[in-house]
Amino acid sequence: MNKRENQFTKASFDPVDARHHGAIHVPIYQNSLFAFERYDQFEEAMKTLLDHHVYSRGNNPTVQYLEQKLAELEEAEAARCFASGMAAISSAIMSVVGQGDHVVCVDQAYGPTKAFLGTYLSRFGVETTFIDGSSIEQWRGAVRPNTKLLYLESPTTMLFELQDLRWCSEFARSIGAVTLIDNTWATPCFQNPLQLGIDLSVHSISKYIGGHSDCIGGIVLGSKELVERIGNTEYMLLGGIMTPQTAALVSKGLRTLPLRMQRHEGSGLQVAEHIGKQGFASRLNHPGLPSHPQYELGRRQMSGSSSLFSFLSNEPTERLKEWANRLKYFKIGVSWGGFESLVTVNRLGSDGDGGEERTSTVVRMYVGLESPTDLIADIDQAWKAV
Ligand SMILES: Cc1ncc(COP(=O)(O)O)c(C=O)c1O
Repeated sequence: MNKRENQFTKASFDPVDARHHGAIHVPIYQNSLFAFERYDQFEEAMKTLLDHHVYSRGNNPTVQYLEQKLAELEEAEAARCFASGMAAISSAIMSVVGQGDHVVCVDQAYGPTKAFLGTYLSRFGVETTFIDGSSIEQWRGAVRPNTKLLYLESPTTMLFELQDLRWCSEFARSIGAVTLIDNTWATPCFQNPLQLGIDLSVHSISKYIGGHSDCIGGIVLGSKELVERIGNTEYMLLGGIMTPQTAALVSKGLRTLPLRMQRHEGSGLQVAEHIGKQGFASRLNHPGLPSHPQYELGRRQMSGSSSLFSFLSNEPTERLKEWANRLKYFKIGVSWGGFESLVTVNRLGSDGDGGEERTSTVVRMYVGLESPTDLIADIDQAWKAV
């Protein structure tokens, strides 16, 4: 059975679990603490807090269920869920770096991640160099003797640039650094970075994994050793944990993740191809289409593509905003990964990125679960109107 097909079983199937009376969905353990009948049992559990159910800031069974399920899908040894993608990202970064360390990060990474690395952590003596992650020369040129972390986001989620995951992981290993990737775009369905040698993978669960635009969450996945280290420090000490209600919601949505991703992939490609033929798009950025300069790399390290993409346009920004106003099915809004299609119109070049292309307007489109035929007709009618 191929890997993609196998994801359907992994997402849908659980053995009958007698601990939960065979409940077909994991129950919501709505409790802060777990009590013991005997003091020796309590003392034993307190020795390894994260292996036992003692307190829900440490180990709640509903949250643990989701962690195990996502670890299986991403092919990771261990996982920890957090209150948001940013809680997962900041905790994972802090588990690797300390005062006097240096980080190399892709310049198109998610804005708050860049702010955390470039501004917030600099207060604590951690320096970050931002580079074009598609350039191997830039990775080589940026590292220093004190580089502890290479931070990747592949693809990036505004211009959809890729990094070569296998090369980055081997390079990091050769200099004694850890690799951490934001894998939110591809989801565990289309990219398993740990299998390509990456040390830690993070997701904003608020996107495709949650899938219903009803919750905020994050997850860190990796080896037992690295994830346990995060569990014992950042997870327990900063306390940015996922609630059991959120874990139960996400666990329900997870059943259909492979199915949704299959639909998103097909519709996303269809809509992107249509956009690529329009005069108002000067460059299309979709890693799943052969027109993307890193298409072959994408095919090597991903088994599919999701449905968030962008295009550059030389049309006046106000005209593009007016087009967005007239779209019926694409709502104007941040985020992505839910059932509903979305659009944003952005000016590039505002956060120090170089390159002339980055000074034009970039329109980011998210293709939801509606009919691609309706979405394409909507794009055309709105453009005609402006
Ligand atoms: C690529 C990417 N990573 C991480 C995040 C942060 O996730 P959250 O909003 O769940 O904190 C986002 C949110 O938009 C994102 O787009």
